[in-house]
Amino acid sequence: MPLRPCVPRPPVALMALCVVLACAAPARGGKPDRADSLPGPRARNVVFLIGDGFGPAYVALARGVADRPLAFDPHLVGSATTSSHSSRVTDSGAAATALASGIHTDNNAIGVDPEGRARTTVLEAAEARGLATGLVVTSRLTHATPAAFAAHVSQRSEEEEIARQMTAAGIEVLLGGGAREFRRNGPDARDLAGEAAARGVRVVTDRAELEKLAPMLKAPIQRQVFVCTGKSCKAVGGEEVKAEFARILEAKGLRQGKESKGRNPLGKVLLTECSSIGFCSIGTAVMVYPDGTLYAQVQPSDAAEIVEEHIEKGNVVKRLALIDLDKN
Ligand code: FES
Repeated sequence: MPLRPCVPRPPVALMALCVVLACAAPARGGKPDRADSLPGPRARNVVFLIGDGFGPAYVALARGVADRPLAFDPHLVGSATTSSHSSRVTDSGAAATALASGIHTDNNAIGVDPEGRARTTVLEAAEARGLATGLVVTSRLTHATPAAFAAHVSQRSEEEEIARQMTAAGIEVLLGGGAREFRRNGPDARDLAGEAAARGVRVVTDRAELEKLAPMLKAPIQRQVFVCTGKSCKAVGGEEVKAEFARILEAKGLRQGKESKGRNPLGKVLLTECSSIGFCSIGTAVMVYPDGTLYAQVQPSDAAEIVEEHIEKGNVVKRLALIDLDKN
């Protein structure tokens, strides 16, 4: 698992097979791009989450079984076609290339069009804009889905070449399985991970080393509280609501974070601001995960009750709850 040293760049990025995340910071050079004309606050970070083989039918089935909206429904803004150019049945290579590069290509192809020409991926576009990117997967990094964001080969089976291209792509974080592709044995053996380490890239191969880099992995986090500070919520006190949650959670030692910031490295609660979640007329919006509770019209004076009742005792504060997925 190669990790590049942290570079002070705007955080973006990607991640696939399970997730891709990207962040959209302002373009260099001052030229307005299409994002400037879109309504709502400008995104600072973009997370591109891919459930492999996870199509609308599965989502509909999950909703039907749960008999309620799903936690990601508020974030679902559209869909993309991932059909193959060469087959009625799409494989991961063609599907991921469609998601990463916006083109339909042949099955097995990775980041190339049906004529074999390399096509720019969203991760590469982010890197070209000077944004930091990451590719984080639960599969092999060289599996077709993540590969299509950072490599260009005609056959998904060319995993050694995919590993070579991926290592050279300038990605800030690569996190996933498939170490053997980065440390090949045999006659044409090449130690890509070793070469990367020699260039100053931090290569981590076990959990203990990873925990040293990211101590929050050890924190027994139970809940995450999102406070919307988007334009509409900010206008009705979103920042003050977040500040009050921060004050109370830190006083109780519940907020996970760095000690130097007055937080608890082993805290049970993550407090995060978020931008508009689409319920702008009911601000300030506060969401509690994994419970799936959306609180509306939250005032700073409500924070103590939400922390004491919901966070500490597990009881949803019904007078403020707009959506409570456990109950709906
Ligand atoms: S600004 Fe839209 S939900 Fe907060």
